[in-house]
Amino acid sequence: MEKCNVAICGCGTVGGGLLQLIRRNNGIPQNAGVGINITHVVDVRLDELEKDPLMEGIILTSDLNQPINDPEVDIIVELIGGIETAGEVIENALEAGKDVVTANKALLAERADELFQLARQHNVSIGFEASVGGGIPIIAAMRDSFVGETINSIFGIVNGTCNYILTQMTQEGISYEDGIAEAQEKGYAEADPTLDVEGHDSAHKLAILARMAFGINVKAKDIYCEGISDLAPIDIIYADSLGYRLKLLAIGAKKKDGIELQVHPALLDKSHPLSDVNGSVNAVCVHGEAVGEVTLTGLGAGAEPTASAVLSDICRIARKTYQKDFLQLPMFSNVQDIRLLPQGTATMKYYFRLSCLDTAGVLARVAGVLGKHNISIASCIQKGEAHQQHGHVPVVFMTHKVKEKNMLKALKEINELECIRGGESRMLRVTEI
Ligand code: HSE
Repeated sequence: MEKCNVAICGCGTVGGGLLQLIRRNNGIPQNAGVGINITHVVDVRLDELEKDPLMEGIILTSDLNQPINDPEVDIIVELIGGIETAGEVIENALEAGKDVVTANKALLAERADELFQLARQHNVSIGFEASVGGGIPIIAAMRDSFVGETINSIFGIVNGTCNYILTQMTQEGISYEDGIAEAQEKGYAEADPTLDVEGHDSAHKLAILARMAFGINVKAKDIYCEGISDLAPIDIIYADSLGYRLKLLAIGAKKKDGIELQVHPALLDKSHPLSDVNGSVNAVCVHGEAVGEVTLTGLGAGAEPTASAVLSDICRIARKTYQKDFLQLPMFSNVQDIRLLPQGTATMKYYFRLSCLDTAGVLARVAGVLGKHNISIASCIQKGEAHQQHGHVPVVFMTHKVKEKNMLKALKEINELECIRGGESRMLRVTEI
């Protein structure tokens, strides 16, 4: 069987997983109908890699240009991560007429338009299945299965690290700090875990999904983004008692005037299928006009699931089935001038927790501010004296649907009341999609 020559640039968690996967199948994945030959591994840790039996017969080098300049190499797999070096490698590979496979969501969230255009100019493709949702074939589904659909919304849990931490905090009652240490140990987190826990990794993935779903060219930095690093365990407990689970969601929705894109922790009703997506598992729900809601679930992080997605792109390119889609489908080229709606225009329900002085008239004052901003209270729980600290008790409110900017204005006013310890207030969005 003819084999496709592949060079792997960056042999960390995913690169190592990919090598193992390919070697396990003797270079011939069971259903691929094509052979894969790893010719080069490029990395800086040559001493370490030379001792690895997986490297037998592979050219090991620290020179990123060596496989790019080798006419025998068909595909360059970029698994270096980060923006600059990875971007240069991809540019050089495309200019040399090589197809590229990458898992680099940060880079695509910043430069997809430009790199896709460069690929088209050189009549080659960029595969990026592994950039969103680890082993979940969401990019393939968007490109292939939903190609005839009008997508109304796409949302999901797209960061395994955050989902793992939130699950452990919810189920095991562990602290945020212990959760992040465990996630790093398991190889879910990015080299810089801030990208995970502050929501940026989810925003990178949402930018890629939004391009495919709505044809919008958006950079991750323009997406409203809140992470999980300042979530208090107490809110997970209150949310649970109100019938909700707390999840970090990436949400894209088509509205009359444009597209809403946001990443933030959200209360999800326990009856929603995403509320039961736990650990490092990711899930993406797509709402298509004709197909209705489709949810794809699977391992969203870790060496092998991500390597599986990388290998799927390699096989498609090796079989020459991907290039045609990449060069022809509008989602890879004609992104439209669609408006990204400003944060604050979205309408939803809110949860907020206040630390209130435990005396007569306090709730009346809070309710007065809410009424002034046309915010209707759906329910309210006040914890008893046992929870009192310095004369203050936690009071949790759930609202009916309200515009975010009204909610924020009201909360600012409430936090300024002398009967409220404003610095301790917490507001969370309730997502109902
Ligand atoms: N750090 C990412 C996550 C890895 O936790 O989901 C996959 O993109």
